[in-house]
Amino acid sequence: MDKLEIHGGVPLSGEIRIAGAKNSALPIMASTLLTKDTVKVGNLPHLYDITTMLELLGCMGVESIVGEKLGVEICSEPIRHFSAPYDLVKTMRASILVLGPMLAHYGQAEVALPGGCAIGSRPVNLHLSALKKMGADINVENGYIEARTKGRLKGAHIFMDLVTVTGTENVMMAATLADGQTIIENAAREPEVVDLANCLKAMGAKIFGEGTDTITIDGVKELRGCEYSVMPDRIETGTYLIAVAATRGKIKIKDTRPSILESVLSKLEEAGAQIQLGEDWISLDMKGNQPRAVSLTTAPYPAFPTDMQAQFTALNAVAEGSGLITETVFENRFMHVHEMNRMGADLKVEGNTVLVKGKDILQGAPVMATDLRASASLIIAGLMSENQTTVDRIYHIDRGYECIEEKLQLLGAKIKRLPS
Ligand code: EPZ
Repeated sequence: MDKLEIHGGVPLSGEIRIAGAKNSALPIMASTLLTKDTVKVGNLPHLYDITTMLELLGCMGVESIVGEKLGVEICSEPIRHFSAPYDLVKTMRASILVLGPMLAHYGQAEVALPGGCAIGSRPVNLHLSALKKMGADINVENGYIEARTKGRLKGAHIFMDLVTVTGTENVMMAATLADGQTIIENAAREPEVVDLANCLKAMGAKIFGEGTDTITIDGVKELRGCEYSVMPDRIETGTYLIAVAATRGKIKIKDTRPSILESVLSKLEEAGAQIQLGEDWISLDMKGNQPRAVSLTTAPYPAFPTDMQAQFTALNAVAEGSGLITETVFENRFMHVHEMNRMGADLKVEGNTVLVKGKDILQGAPVMATDLRASASLIIAGLMSENQTTVDRIYHIDRGYECIEEKLQLLGAKIKRLPS
């Protein structure tokens, strides 16, 4: 397994460009199952998860042609199998996103039940109960979800017990071809949900209220192909801003979207960062100062995103003062804490909160990644450590961060990949 070797203590500075958003690209790629026409998706990030989604669609017979500049043309017309196998689903939970569109367009879908992962049990009960309410017959047996519908799904008034991002996306996609109107209450408001809705509308879907907690979809008989470019990745953007703040450096981030990062930018300013914004760029400057520790609580958008909790924990670990980080979305998203404490950090977990007492610098150590965002936080900790840190199991990283060591090298980091 590849490892990353980091020699810390260097303030990062420079400019980087942000890739397309993984968590927008994945539902948009799944939505191509809703039409027999070709859908051209642009600005795709170079990530394992994107390749996995193409492999998943391909194993069902869907044709995809990867073009230049990270574009792909996807056509589901040749689809022959309606099954998402466990060996692919187990590597990427987002495979569940093919369930809604495949069921709505082809009347059948068999998807391996995603297991839990390092950050929590992550059930999909809300996806299934909503589709049942729309008239689907759903059985879960032998680790597979078997879904069928006679004729079109029916529009329904659905109240999501919890805010679920992919749950909202699955139901919204299914509802585009349903007979009648679907209302999703307590819907996820994440920008990636809005990006998916914009792509679906380009395919001819009738969707209203995306980005609010109530989304209304008037079903249509069929959807057409379109060309759509994926929005920038706000989590990648935030991760680099936090890494630069932790190392007391400065950065200009281009090809991004400041308007969807307000909660993160406000916390970075509270930590002492000087921030300037443009239409599609963000600059951050610490003026060489140590960041101040901040307290935060994660929650669904527009609150502070859970996908940046581990990174901010790393920032607090090398900040002045103490901060409380509370995780309310997932039940086990503190796996990075034990590894950071091995690097000399002073982190104490109490329930769903971690108390962080900042240090001037950490001690490099061999550490192990457990999930995508925890790996990023360990790299940030390594960038603020004396001597050497090696991060193992970085396949987690390659799922969600495009060319991370190259981008960090562009910012002056002493980091290299050690092939296994
Ligand atoms: C999406 O996961 C993202 N993944 C996650 O990003 C992100 O952390 C998460 O939303 C929260 O923002 C993609 O978009 C591909 P949820 P998702 O359903 O949709 C519970 C990353 O790092 N729940 O919003 O799977 C669930 O257990 C990844 O890029 C149910 O109980 O998350 C969790 O506690 C990690 N039943 C909470 O809701 C359900 O049917 C929110 O989960 C569905 C969810």
